[in-house]
Amino acid sequence: MYKEFFGLRANPFNVNPDPRYLFLTRHTEEALACLTYGIQSRKGFVLLTGEVGTGKTTLINKLLEWLRVQQVATAFVFNSRLNVPQFLDYMMADFGIVCDSSAKSQILLRLYNWLLDRYRAGETAVLIVDEAQNLSDEVLEEIRMLTNLETFTEKLLQIVLVGQPELEHKLRQPQLRQLKQRLTLRAKTHPLTGDETRAYVQQRLRIAGSNGQEIFDAGAIEALFRYSGGIPRVINLLCEHCLVSAFVDQQKVIGATVVESVARDFDLSTNPTSAPLTTPGPAGANGKAEQFDLADALRSLATLAERLRESEGDKDLPTERKL
Ligand SMILES: Nc1ncnc2c1ncn2[C@@H]1O[C@H](COP(=O)(O)OP(=O)(O)O)[C@@H](O)[C@H]1O
Ligand SMILES: [Mg+2]
Repeated sequence: MYKEFFGLRANPFNVNPDPRYLFLTRHTEEALACLTYGIQSRKGFVLLTGEVGTGKTTLINKLLEWLRVQQVATAFVFNSRLNVPQFLDYMMADFGIVCDSSAKSQILLRLYNWLLDRYRAGETAVLIVDEAQNLSDEVLEEIRMLTNLETFTEKLLQIVLVGQPELEHKLRQPQLRQLKQRLTLRAKTHPLTGDETRAYVQQRLRIAGSNGQEIFDAGAIEALFRYSGGIPRVINLLCEHCLVSAFVDQQKVIGATVVESVARDFDLSTNPTSAPLTTPGPAGANGKAEQFDLADALRSLATLAERLRESEGDKDLPTERKL
């Protein structure tokens, strides 16, 4: 196993949104603060957007952890293909509210009474909806109706809507204007800068048990940033494959050539306009380079995902499971 070879206890670059690995950048901290503030001050409705792979679900899992500690009731809907009755059923079940009737009016009444009880006890309830860019207009309209559950002074249900930037565009459509008008707070996730990429990789290695010995050298980190555009999910996929490849070659330190070769396997290309390591990356101030970088990184991500799916049945590709 490569873990032993590199002195690690766990696999550092899993692509699941594990909040134990949360790396806090200024943007992530701001987003988390915005979400917790919105909920604590019962703002009613908060939006979290960001490009795919930039850490929205990871951040939400962190928020859910925090809410559980505060003993706040939560429902987390992550299947955006639900129709309205399924959506309501799922939400009620996740809140743990039993409702004998399947009539919408009865479900909403039961929810309202439950929320009022909680409100009287000084508690709130939070509904989080992930991948909301894929929700149908009907479900989004239903969510808007849920924001009507209020007393004279306070919102009874706090709603966090999470999605890719298309969600912002969607909310601009005339039929969803009313929903947009209810939005009181907006939070965003961003790709990492070059410096953050270095710290991100080091932090994940440390949490996975590394004793601080160098595994990715400076050139490797720079290459990781160039090929990933600072998108954590792409960084993870590249790092994971670099570790496997270096293990196969019994190489303790990974240099730029390993990253380049893995990136080539995945058909990733660097962007000639991408910023050097020490300046802000795709989230930086240079608008044009920023857009270009991001488009490139997203194309890379799509290719990676495709390759990964293909590789599931590919015996030649070394994966940790097979080692
Ligand atoms: N701030 C972060 N700290 C730690 N890991 C992160 C962070 N952002 C993203 N990741 C990692 O990148 C991958 C994709 O993150 P995810 O939360 O699923 O992104 P999104 O929901 O925006 O598509 C996951 O493996 C996650 O662990
Ligand atoms: Mg997600």
